[in-house]
Amino acid sequence: MQIKLLLPTVLINLTAATLCSAAAIDRDPLAATRRLKPVVGNVTTSDGTVLSYRFFNHTQPAYANAIPVIFASVGGTGQVQTDWDTVIPHFTKKHPVLAFDNRGIGLSTVTNDSLVTQQNMGDDILELTKHFGWTHINLVGISMGAIISNTLYMSKWTT
Ligand SMILES: *[C@@H]1O[C@H](CO)[C@@H](O)[C@H](O)[C@H]1NC(C)=O
Ligand SMILES: *[C@@H]1O[C@H](CO)[C@@H](O)[C@H](O)[C@H]1NC(C)=O
Ligand SMILES: *[C@@H]1O[C@H](CO)[C@@H](O)[C@H](O)[C@H]1NC(C)=O
Repeated sequence: MQIKLLLPTVLINLTAATLCSAAAIDRDPLAATRRLKPVVGNVTTSDGTVLSYRFFNHTQPAYANAIPVIFASVGGTGQVQTDWDTVIPHFTKKHPVLAFDNRGIGLSTVTNDSLVTQQNMGDDILELTKHFGWTHINLVGISMGAIISNTLYMSKWTT
């Protein structure tokens, strides 16, 4: 019984300790992301929205067929793709990573504010997925990005 309780606790502590020591050693927490060289580009959707993205391929050739991770980063109007930069290097060890600005936010545009809906933002993730020719993705969303990710998963995605 105690082992079952302890194991997750130890794992959580190890993760926290690792992150803390990494932050302490690296005075510039974004340095690791800066060292990665992303492909910067954009995708124009059917309604004229221009989605700005950065694509980081993983750093290990052994993971050439790894499923990409897409960050859906909407937390109100103030959150942009670079807000993920402290965690991107952790994911790029084993996965290609795509970070993008949702429509009307950061470097992404929108032709009419009325087009900024959760449904459309979920569809944007599909547009990006099609653009890269991916058939499977991992989605990581925060705040409203989490709602969008869940909505997309429930409504469109099949396994
Ligand atoms: C989209 O990409 C093109 C070509 O790289 C670039 O000229 C343009 O400025 C980009 N637009 C936006 C909104 O990022
Ligand atoms: C990432 O780069 C590897 C080569 O190192 C390539 O085989 C793979 O297709 C790339 N991944 C994506 C999603 O483009
Ligand atoms: C934006 O869309 C709304 C309908 O959702 C429309 O009433 C309005 O005229 C549009 N604005 C522009 C500038 O196209």
